[in-house]
Amino acid sequence: MSKRLSKKDAPKILTDNEKVMKDDDLIVSKTDTKGFITYCNRTFIEFSGYTEKELLGANHNLIRHPDMPKIAFQLCWDLIKQKKEFFGYVKNLRKDGGFYWVFAYITADIDESGNIIGYSSFRRKPSKQGIEAVTPLYKKLVEIENTQGVKESLSYFQNFLNDNHITYDQLMAALQK
Ligand SMILES: Cc1cc2nc3c(=O)[nH]c(=O)nc-3n(C[C@H](O)[C@H](O)[C@H](O)COP(=O)(O)O)c2cc1C
Repeated sequence: MSKRLSKKDAPKILTDNEKVMKDDDLIVSKTDTKGFITYCNRTFIEFSGYTEKELLGANHNLIRHPDMPKIAFQLCWDLIKQKKEFFGYVKNLRKDGGFYWVFAYITADIDESGNIIGYSSFRRKPSKQGIEAVTPLYKKLVEIENTQGVKESLSYFQNFLNDNHITYDQLMAALQK
């Protein structure tokens, strides 16, 4: 079997080259219960820059961008493991070191007995205002994670929501409107 790619194999030199989603683009991928890719559509291949062969079996963190705060993925996994839905703005790393922003929806795939058999993600073009709002916020959260830790990042984010009298889901819905 060929090597399973993961974030360790991702490019180390990052560029400012952005690939922008079009209004009718839909990026789809599915994973097993551990987050290893089991399916990806053409648009995912096009945006990530990897071949289908490289993507199938890879850890989904292969396209993790270092500008993304850890707590975004923590929140995501917390929700989807409970069979809840995750919505969020995600900056992804392309094979060529460039990036692309998405508005992601991730949820569990459940069999007839109610067992989680994997996860699916569908991404649409993110709103401009959404990217503009989360960019400085993510920057701050990454900075806190690197200097003080994940716990502090989470409490900064919780305070941010409390100060704005908004829940995470309300914020996402408002930004993507
Ligand atoms: C269905 C599904 C889709 C995912 N899509 C992405 C994605 O597009 N980009 C990303 O960075 N992480 C995505 N993740 C989260 C990764 O599994 C992982 O938690 C994240 O990249 C952080 O990895 P790390 O904790 O190993 O750094 C997805 C997870 C699932 C279950």
